[in-house]
Amino acid sequence: MKDEKRIILTGFMGVGKTTVAKHLAHLLECERLDLDAMIVESEHLTIAEIIERDGIEKFRQIETANLQRILESDAKVIALGGGAWTIEENRRLIKAHNFTTVWLESSFEHCWLNISASKRVRPLARNKTEARKLFEERQRVYCLADWHFIIKPELNSFEVAKRIAEEIFFYEFN
Ligand code: S3P
Repeated sequence: MKDEKRIILTGFMGVGKTTVAKHLAHLLECERLDLDAMIVESEHLTIAEIIERDGIEKFRQIETANLQRILESDAKVIALGGGAWTIEENRRLIKAHNFTTVWLESSFEHCWLNISASKRVRPLARNKTEARKLFEERQRVYCLADWHFIIKPELNSFEVAKRIAEEIFFYEFN
């Protein structure tokens, strides 16, 4: 990795944070971590099981504790869960660790298509009306990220990662 910047990807459920992060880390040849995957590994439960067992407040506490660990790791590319950036304490921690934050911004319909196609249970997006409400409420917080990348449906995750590498890390691809 040519650049010392460390990057956090945020955005609504289903926008493709995890996949874009995988491609980006591959392109930049650096370490990547996924906050939700780290939580699943440390709790030995799925995210849905944790929320069901402990409730959303407790999940957010577990999320912040794991965010702290991840920020102190060597990972240069981190994908958050869709709610992590909406918590003020998390945003403060991320800034304190000097991460560059990127909002993968897309339409609700695009996210919903991916949410509906996925096998993963998302307790905060069990139906379209609920998910749309959350999506709309969160726009003003996501837009606090340093960079906004509009995810157009015609761009695949690899192309989005390439654009991030070019625009933020000044990579040149032939
Ligand atoms: C959440 C998003 C999920 C997961 C949890 C809560 C949210 O991650 O962290 O279900 O509040 O938006 P994805 O964005 O990867 O689905």
